[in-house]
Amino acid sequence: MAPGPPRILTGVSTQIPTLEQLQALGPVQQPTYADTELLQQVTAQLRTRPPLVFAGECDDLRAKIADVAAGRAFILQGGDCAETFDTGTAFDIRGKLRVLLSMAVVLTYAAQVPVVKIGRLAGQYAKPRSKNTEIRGGVELPAYRGDAVNGFDFTPQARVHDPHRLMEVYNHSAATLNLIRAFVTGGFADLRAVHSWNQDFVRNTGAEARYEALADEIERALAFMVACGVDKEAFRTVDFYSSHEALLLPYEHALTRIDSRTETPYNVSAHMVWIGERTRQTSGAHVGCVRQLRNPSGAKVGPSTTATDVVALAEALDPEQEPGRLTIISRMGAGKVRDALPPLVRALRATGRTVAWVCDPMHGNTFEASNGYKTRAFSQVVDEVNGFFDVHEELGTWPGGVHMELTGDDVTECVGGIADALAEADLSNRYETACDPRLNRNQSLELAFQIAERLTDGRIKRINPVQEFRAEDF
Ligand code: PEP
Ligand code: CO
Repeated sequence: MAPGPPRILTGVSTQIPTLEQLQALGPVQQPTYADTELLQQVTAQLRTRPPLVFAGECDDLRAKIADVAAGRAFILQGGDCAETFDTGTAFDIRGKLRVLLSMAVVLTYAAQVPVVKIGRLAGQYAKPRSKNTEIRGGVELPAYRGDAVNGFDFTPQARVHDPHRLMEVYNHSAATLNLIRAFVTGGFADLRAVHSWNQDFVRNTGAEARYEALADEIERALAFMVACGVDKEAFRTVDFYSSHEALLLPYEHALTRIDSRTETPYNVSAHMVWIGERTRQTSGAHVGCVRQLRNPSGAKVGPSTTATDVVALAEALDPEQEPGRLTIISRMGAGKVRDALPPLVRALRATGRTVAWVCDPMHGNTFEASNGYKTRAFSQVVDEVNGFFDVHEELGTWPGGVHMELTGDDVTECVGGIADALAEADLSNRYETACDPRLNRNQSLELAFQIAERLTDGRIKRINPVQEFRAEDF
């Protein structure tokens, strides 16, 4: 992460609506706390906690996303569907970081532009749900809404909505971000080491025949850079940012502070926050909460989104048309993206807006396997990414990036992939997600190589070729 000036973010914001004003907008997908006094105590404590990120870092990310919107950079955003308090170990965090950095090297080489690396990490603890309750064996309990709200165990005690969990979210986010900051500046992200992990993947899996040539090209490119005298230190650190869905208004509101220099509000719980498909109502409370922030923000759009909707959403979230402020994350489904996305891209373009377009090829492709597991097919994930590229190629716009649910572990949650060729019968081996199925390490790397193939086949028009090269953009 870029250091950025350590501007102090203090006190209660007078420039954003009060929590009561947001509540009056009838926010959907909120917990129902029995003890509202306890909620107030916890949020009052949260308001006194130090920021997890600095305003200057958020500004840096906004500038990088402005480059994405202008066709000069590519976003790689990824991590768990739902982080949990128990699984957020050093091993787990390192695994996710390792896979994201590995993917980023391949994508940087292929896209020939800087890759902006953003984790679904250090705050991704709350989940919107399609049903309020879950029924198992005739017993009905409140649905699991992420560790920020209640517990995963199917017991009445675990499923109670507990405000104390918001403080745990803050604490776990702080610990996670602390470790990530240490990893990305402490040598773990060294480009040559990251590349060697990719070579291990290529050599030790069935993917060798298809991807070895590309891996070897990257190897030669790195050797060339070293030979040219590119500063070895510049290989050692990367910029890495945190993001999560801004879902729980009491938490997001309590972590919104005023920057002492610009006197404007920043959400200091993450560098970037996004609004989910279920909470993107233009006059709703989530848009009301996020629209005032100076952080770069995102909005997910699914196949029911109309051209009018996306224009209204962009106007609400980015009234000043500020470069890098808004990322639209399309999650249409492989079968729909080629029809549903073009009207949205055309409509926004017609308003003169430039937003960063990112593809989430996960959430429109979830299905139930014959053995009852919620899963996704690797082939459909690839197909949606290709459909997203097809649309942008056709319209002459820049496909700005991808948003993935993934983990560094060898889990068995999504079917397919050359390296693992996971079948439905394999899903039960290591099905560990607390919410949606994630790509495992091999599947994630394979996806990066497939995107790289697409980015290097000459079909994507480079809009604004990169002017300046900085090794730390890897
Ligand atoms: C998610 O990102 O985990 C999610 C719930 O996505 P969406 O809002 O697109 O359904
Ligand atoms: Co998800």
